[in-house]
Amino acid sequence: MTISSLQYFALTIPDVDAGKQFYADFGLQARDEGERAILRCDGREQDQVILLEGANRRMHHVAFGTLANDLADLKNRLEAEHTALIDAPKGSDGAGLWFHDPDGVLISVRVADSAPWRTAPEWKINTPGHFSRIGRPGHPRRDARVRPTRLGHILRFTPQLQRMIDFYTRVLGLKLSDRAQDIVAFLHTRGGSDHHVLAFLASDRPGFHHASFEVANVDEIGLGACNMLDKGYNDGWGFGRHVIGSNFFHYIRDPWMSLAEYFCDIDYIAADSDWKPTNYAIEDALYVWGPKPPENFGINFEANG
Ligand SMILES: [Fe+2]
Repeated sequence: MTISSLQYFALTIPDVDAGKQFYADFGLQARDEGERAILRCDGREQDQVILLEGANRRMHHVAFGTLANDLADLKNRLEAEHTALIDAPKGSDGAGLWFHDPDGVLISVRVADSAPWRTAPEWKINTPGHFSRIGRPGHPRRDARVRPTRLGHILRFTPQLQRMIDFYTRVLGLKLSDRAQDIVAFLHTRGGSDHHVLAFLASDRPGFHHASFEVANVDEIGLGACNMLDKGYNDGWGFGRHVIGSNFFHYIRDPWMSLAEYFCDIDYIAADSDWKPTNYAIEDALYVWGPKPPENFGINFEANG
């Protein structure tokens, strides 16, 4: 075992205040810490997004949690791979091991648990032959504010899909969940995990594609998506259901052409699962149903260099 949780991701963006506003509109809670903005999910004591000022929108670093015993093993494995450990960047919390992954993205692995998140009441719905909600209306309040419960996963572009799968499984201890040919691959943690906490999409260069946040049910996906449309974030993709991971989704494009996803009902892989990765056909890489994805959905907008 090595990585046991995704803790947070950090982006540089040209306008931290606008980034804070985007994620606050999305339903996260923002606070300033010096030059940086920190976003959390309501009710969860864990940073989820860190925004730093920079000329371009770029993935700055990704932080994972591990157990104390595993940190020393990881250090040995990184040394065996000739992956140099480096000092924590200025202004960071400095925790754990810091290094660059094969795509040159800064990674931190620290001793940290996955902090508990808000639960939601069981979603009672009526389906053919199963009346689970009797005698009361099922519709949500129109003015319900959508507050994601947790960061679920991030998807990154990579120019070397197989090498990234190898590094994150063999060295960092994640497991392959499923993939679609040489296009996209999804990874989970070993100790009981969402179907994916980290995924990679083939591209000509590294980059950040999207981060995904869990909400209670499909009503909250719809309410959140409509709220973002009302606030002027017109680009995105959804409502739909993925094949790989099975989650319902709606994506909203941020002002820097990356995406934030609302999701619910993702597949779960237990610690003792005999889950076998499937290599899906390319036409299954994206979705079962939903509107056609916009042409720019899979474009890597991250600046070169
Ligand atoms: Fe996603």
